[in-house]
Amino acid sequence: MKQTSHFRALKQRGTGISMLTCYDYPSARIQDACGIDVIFVGDSLATNVLGYAHQNDLSLEEMRHHVRAVARGIERAYLLADIPYAVSQDVPTILDAAGQLRQDGVDGVKVEGFKPEVFAALAQTEIDGWAHLGFTPQLIEKPAMQAKDSASADQLVGECRALEAAGAVGLILELVPEAVAGRVSRALEIPVIGIGAGLLCDGQVQVWHDLIGLETRIYKHAFRQCDAHAAQTAAVRAYRKLVAGEQ
Ligand code: KIV
Repeated sequence: MKQTSHFRALKQRGTGISMLTCYDYPSARIQDACGIDVIFVGDSLATNVLGYAHQNDLSLEEMRHHVRAVARGIERAYLLADIPYAVSQDVPTILDAAGQLRQDGVDGVKVEGFKPEVFAALAQTEIDGWAHLGFTPQLIEKPAMQAKDSASADQLVGECRALEAAGAVGLILELVPEAVAGRVSRALEIPVIGIGAGLLCDGQVQVWHDLIGLETRIYKHAFRQCDAHAAQTAAVRAYRKLVAGEQ
């Protein structure tokens, strides 16, 4: 089990914590070798890799299969995985799923929504509990900025504090105004990792397909670094032409 105190130390030092989603062994090897702090098997596995219409279509078995592949590619990074929606109805079901994912190699699990009782229960185990507030795709249908007015921003800060007090070791904040995300980051001792939440968090999480450009839509919050879709398409076209004797 890797120590989450390391992430608190990075936060205190002001060193940004890097997190990336990952769904397979070769990508895990690249991310691990590049020094990514947290390699995260998100439930976006469902849409980005398995071709489902929604991330809530993912089963625990599918998540476990990919977690094991990613775990085999990691030598040093911290491994985090989502608790799929299908097994997030109640505390015993979540604990059981977390235990199975632990056997597959995770250091921690991420649970969406305001569920202090889940983090209190996880704190009694060897599995770290990471929270996810703001826009939570498992629970909110349409992607939209959250906590836009001062009452909902205050509520968010209160919920984040409560999850920290309950035992969460880290927090993902998605689609929240930068000033609100900065406020949450300052209010908590645990690391706050943002996506679409500006640059005032303790770290950033990006979806692998958005970072490398395998996803053709370019989201406003994507830190896109290359165009893997174009590169792969060109490679496949060139290969087909070569085999067909067209060049
Ligand atoms: O599954 C996912 O991609 C996520 C994002 C917040 C990174 O949970």
